[in-house]
Amino acid sequence: AQQKATINVHPGQGREIISKHIYGQFAEHLGTCIYGGLWVGEDSKIPNTQGYRNDVLQALKDLKVPVLRWPGGCFADEYHWMDGIGPKENRPRMVNNNWGGTVEDNSFGTHEFLNLCELIGCEPYISGNVGSGSVEEMAKWVEYMTSEQGSPMAKLRKENGREKPWKVKFFGVGNESWGCGGSMRPEYYADLYRRYSTYCRNYDGNHLFKIASGASDYDYDWTEILMKNVGHRMAGISLHYYTVMGWSGSKGSATQFTDDDYYWTMGKCLEIEQVLKKHMAIMDKYDPKKQIGLMVDEWGTWWDEEPGTIRGHLYQQNTLRDAFVASLTLDVFHKYTDRIKMTNIAQIANVLQSMILTKDDKMVLTPTYHVFEMYKVHQDATYLPLELNCERKIVRDDRIVPMVSATASRDANGLIHISLSNVDLQESQDIELNLGEVKAKSVTGRILTADNIGDYNSFEKPDVVAPKEFSGAKVNKGSLKVTLPAKSIVVLEVK
Ligand code: AHR
Repeated sequence: AQQKATINVHPGQGREIISKHIYGQFAEHLGTCIYGGLWVGEDSKIPNTQGYRNDVLQALKDLKVPVLRWPGGCFADEYHWMDGIGPKENRPRMVNNNWGGTVEDNSFGTHEFLNLCELIGCEPYISGNVGSGSVEEMAKWVEYMTSEQGSPMAKLRKENGREKPWKVKFFGVGNESWGCGGSMRPEYYADLYRRYSTYCRNYDGNHLFKIASGASDYDYDWTEILMKNVGHRMAGISLHYYTVMGWSGSKGSATQFTDDDYYWTMGKCLEIEQVLKKHMAIMDKYDPKKQIGLMVDEWGTWWDEEPGTIRGHLYQQNTLRDAFVASLTLDVFHKYTDRIKMTNIAQIANVLQSMILTKDDKMVLTPTYHVFEMYKVHQDATYLPLELNCERKIVRDDRIVPMVSATASRDANGLIHISLSNVDLQESQDIELNLGEVKAKSVTGRILTADNIGDYNSFEKPDVVAPKEFSGAKVNKGSLKVTLPAKSIVVLEVK
């Protein structure tokens, strides 16, 4: 069966740039995200470049990662950066108290992270320790990374083998300071933000973009108090929103779920739009010129850990359902690109809604990776507003889910890209796609789908869910006619 939908894109109304940083990633010292996922060390049998896995390096280059957040998450507020510099054999071991009590050897520290960013060509986003670290410790970290010469920390950096400072723009002053980052009240955190950030200096032409630890989900009071008490002392304020069933009890399996569970997931994921709007309305009150960015620096699905994996390591599989959470959420972020300046999906490898899964020397790219890769054409392109009419379903918890999601942009070469998701599990969509004053001459596309919504890529079968060429779009008198198969995600390129 087939449903009908209409999309009217307005190329003439394109004003805002979709910040490439919306496609940001997050790497925490958690499970095997860093150790085993990104980093194996130079002596490993796994092929590597200076200790970084070659397969992962290449996959991340192909993804055009714009920015990478590190070292946490909750880990950040227990991390003491000085333990992760200097000769590796002298670095103390540490217990990762937040995530399963794993003992780490600190072989991946500041140099290893910032050099990785240089290798894959992305910007670093450092999360500083407010919860258990001192003002002095944070101030010295900034000095170590960014001051050119003369300062004691620049001298130490040079002794550790790095002559030139790195460029570090994005700097988070704490993480989840209402919870694992110190269990603070917003008034107290606001004061601490003011104090800590005062000493995070701009050295030698490096200009920090300081980001305050923001709210989780529906905590509008946190945003209100930070906007009031911190205001323009912060360049950005963060927000965390997970597509999760709840924080106690089972979160559900990543791979075993019913159609009803799937539609619920779409509803919960799309609820981010209402949540964003409420936080942004508060921000507008204190910052009508939209000078402070909203940084959704953690988002994505959170399921039960895969059976047989270590508790606290948050290792989960990733199905076509997760791919839809990625495409639908990115479509929402594009709409508010005048306020949303960065987002960081959690996380880059082996943790939660990952791009990449690794096991010893094997690597798979997840369906979510493929969405990010297909969508990379939207990075730094001009957002094109659109109207969309389609069928809707009322799902569990009375949420209303449109069966089609879409977003459009025009890149620097004038190419228009339109991303379309058909959420419906059974029906295909017959879409009439008008491009206003633009008359399409030709269209090409790629599609991501699978036989079942619960399909995923495993180490044995790594290509079950992978993009293919799409031939279901045709030019018709300057407009497009698209037949979008059930449960599919398509990105079109229009000339
Ligand atoms: O991404 C996993 C964890 O989720 C992060 O460490 C924390 O900030 C959040 O609660």
